[in-house]
Amino acid sequence: MTVTGHTPGRAALHLARAASFAPSPHNSQPWFFVEEGHDRGFEVHADAGRRLPLTDHDGREMVIACGAALFNARTAVRQLGFRPVVDVLPELADQDFLARVGFGAHAAPTDEEESLARALSLRHTHRGPFGPEPVTEALLAELRDQARAEGAILQVLDVPEKVALLARLVDAAERADRADLWRAVELAHRVGPTGVPVTACRAHPDLTLLAGRDYLGMSRRYTVAARRRGPGTGIVALLCTPYDQRADWLLAGQALQRVLLYAAGRGVMAGFHTQPLERPDLREEVRRGVTAGRHPQMVLRLGRPLHVRPTLRRPLREVLTQGPVPLRR
Ligand SMILES: Cc1cc2nc3c(=O)[nH]c(=O)nc-3n(C[C@H](O)[C@H](O)[C@H](O)COP(=O)(O)O)c2cc1C
Repeated sequence: MTVTGHTPGRAALHLARAASFAPSPHNSQPWFFVEEGHDRGFEVHADAGRRLPLTDHDGREMVIACGAALFNARTAVRQLGFRPVVDVLPELADQDFLARVGFGAHAAPTDEEESLARALSLRHTHRGPFGPEPVTEALLAELRDQARAEGAILQVLDVPEKVALLARLVDAAERADRADLWRAVELAHRVGPTGVPVTACRAHPDLTLLAGRDYLGMSRRYTVAARRRGPGTGIVALLCTPYDQRADWLLAGQALQRVLLYAAGRGVMAGFHTQPLERPDLREEVRRGVTAGRHPQMVLRLGRPLHVRPTLRRPLREVLTQGPVPLRR
């Protein structure tokens, strides 16, 4: 999708900036936003041209990322003192048109909404071990509530056998990814200032119980002894949904971002290990063996990092345009 130049309104710029802070697979930022003019609405579209064809064959992760961007846009509307009015998948003929966000009645943001808005630029993905400070049970219960408020389930894995099973499935997927030349090429293309910066993926991917993506090909150069894996893994959790349609992926993205922002506001960040969910057979094993039949959408670790590593976004002029969008396909 090429975005044409125009002079955007201030509210649209505010929403687009907030939405762009969302996480996305390999920082692909598979979205663009449309200002409908005179503050009538702000549209969130998936940019299918930015989907990662091998990692994300069905576009599920692309829609999750856009869901996270949608939650950020909702948060930005609250920050401006309005209630967001959200219309999900508003056009049957265009499944990449994911949502329209309108400005509803005026209502001052609550302290909690202000705190979510402040966390927009503080949240970053963490890779490698976390610091020793724990994530409390009380905070985990609050994070579960945040996911539930969006219609998703945050399942915290507290049974060691389930953590071990999930770790085996992440490992199987990661080993397959490392052995697959084309996937390695897709990953390597996303490393750099416009994708995942080297500074954000310098930790060896095998230092925690869940294998990380090997962005820099480190596992080819040296291996980590089994006894060194584990400390600093943090809390292992899965975000799940009862169903598995496009609307559920969008819902999962909003729930994910609500959990992440709430956590970031309290000094807790997440690392992601979504490799087994990108292979239908392994995703099915996670669903049957770990999430009791619910559809796993994200695999995450939560903890308190010693450092945070920011990742750049595309300039707003590349992601924000003015409607109408030409019909696709
Ligand atoms: C659906 C989805 C899947 C992701 N999977 C992984 C993953 O398996 N490993 C990883 O290190 N990061 C993963 N990420 C995080 C992205 O790499 C990260 O969001 C992106 O690089 C932008 O960085 P930031 O989150 O720090 O802003 C995922 C993000 C999303 C939304």
